[in-house]
Amino acid sequence: MIIDSHAHLFNEYYDNIKDVLDRAKAAGIIKVVNAADTIASCKEVIDNANKYEDYYFCLGIHPENVDEDINELEKLIEDNKDNPKFVAIGEIGLDYYWTKDNKDKQIELFENQLKLAEKYNKPVVVHSREATQDTIDILGRYNITVYIHCFSGSKETADIYVKRGYYIGVGGVLTFKNAKIKDVIKDIPLENLLLETDAPYLAPTPYRGKPNEPAYLLETAKFLAEVKEESLENIDQKILENSRKIFSI
Ligand code: NI
Repeated sequence: MIIDSHAHLFNEYYDNIKDVLDRAKAAGIIKVVNAADTIASCKEVIDNANKYEDYYFCLGIHPENVDEDINELEKLIEDNKDNPKFVAIGEIGLDYYWTKDNKDKQIELFENQLKLAEKYNKPVVVHSREATQDTIDILGRYNITVYIHCFSGSKETADIYVKRGYYIGVGGVLTFKNAKIKDVIKDIPLENLLLETDAPYLAPTPYRGKPNEPAYLLETAKFLAEVKEESLENIDQKILENSRKIFSI
């Protein structure tokens, strides 16, 4: 039994989310934490969590959507602050891969959401792409629980995150042939790891190239067990504990 700590089960990607959740459950993936990326998707995940028992959600604006309205986000957070399925602020962060031209805006949006996390006492789910140093510097100024999703950084970066007690998300990339991240993940303590699909993206081997879904997380879990030289049962149990702890579920 494990929890998929990061997915995007949105209506635009799946015809029938109920079926996706049923397949997940049959594969031992008992809950799915869905991260929003726009105001529209925030509303959608709230709605889906009302419909589906094992559907949990995070509210946030992704760095690729810097023009979204933070005030509207805060209102949604306020309205849902006592909803037990609202588990984190996310997916937020910095992404300099596509463009650096709006760096200042990205940083402002990121910090404003980190302040919301402090105010509402929620963990944050962070996306960081080609922006490691800024991510490290900015997060260092806040006293919040951090989950670095889809981690692809160096050993040095992992060391900094582990020292700060951050959680590090391991996804389908770990199962790709010649994935350099294997050596980095191997040295990260199990207490700091979470398993995630990032569905519909980054399907693990042998589903690589297909739309991803939470049921496939089992493949990544098997791979992680190999990399960490632990039994699958042990991996499942520890990762489940970590997910329950960070999200209070
Ligand atoms: Ni994501």
